[in-house]
Amino acid sequence: MGNNNINLTLNIWRQESAEAKGDFEKFKVSVSPDASILEMLDELNNKLEKEGKIPIAFESDCREGICGTCGLVVNGHPHGALPKIATCQLHMRNFKDGETLYIEPFRATAFKIIKDLIVDRSGFDEIQQAGGYISFNTGSAPDANAVPIPKEIASLALDAAECIGCGACVAACKNSSAMLFVAAKVSQFALLPQGQPERYERVQAMIAKMDELGFGSCSNTYACEAECPKGISVKNIARMNRDYIVSKVTKETV
Ligand code: SF4
Ligand code: FES
Repeated sequence: MGNNNINLTLNIWRQESAEAKGDFEKFKVSVSPDASILEMLDELNNKLEKEGKIPIAFESDCREGICGTCGLVVNGHPHGALPKIATCQLHMRNFKDGETLYIEPFRATAFKIIKDLIVDRSGFDEIQQAGGYISFNTGSAPDANAVPIPKEIASLALDAAECIGCGACVAACKNSSAMLFVAAKVSQFALLPQGQPERYERVQAMIAKMDELGFGSCSNTYACEAECPKGISVKNIARMNRDYIVSKVTKETV
């Protein structure tokens, strides 16, 4: 324990299984301001294990904001209140000594709680699988610039491709809508020439799967964009909606 440690009271959601009734459990911790919130949970888990208690279940992988596995709701905000960071990038220096934190899992009908802070986000995988492949020649590498793409369009596609599939948009939405996630995944292909052959089948299939899995409709509150760690724009939702309408009225895509 360093001298600069801050003391926090943590209220952490504990739940044995999807069926079990969950509740907050209180912990007192002293933590380095340089620790991330996940490192704080690691330390707490080490202590719990030493005491013969069951550690807190939570997910993480890259711990650098890339993989999208680490989502927690901290004091009511998916990934915490700071903009454009994932939970693993949230450091304890952003909290005051003596502060109380509430740490919960992402909550949505389509994200069943598996245990404690871990939810089942496999619905996102199913939506992406429903989108299918892109028809693209995987033969020898084409010459650079063989398929010219305007810089502005390439940037929009890359911005959409930044989505890490974390699910914060769903957790932030009062309807538990997955529209921002699906719109990002639709847009990253719809904007590029390589995504054109299946463009309209793709949007229909992904939206149908999203609905089937129980994600709600867009609440138009932009809470998704506000909480997205990658700043995915709701303009992608408008693009997806346009593509969906076109897909429904264009004969050759029926
Ligand atoms: S759109 Fe943003 S919040 Fe939603 S899954 Fe992608 S990165 Fe996460
Ligand atoms: S652990 Fe990968 S984004 Fe946080």
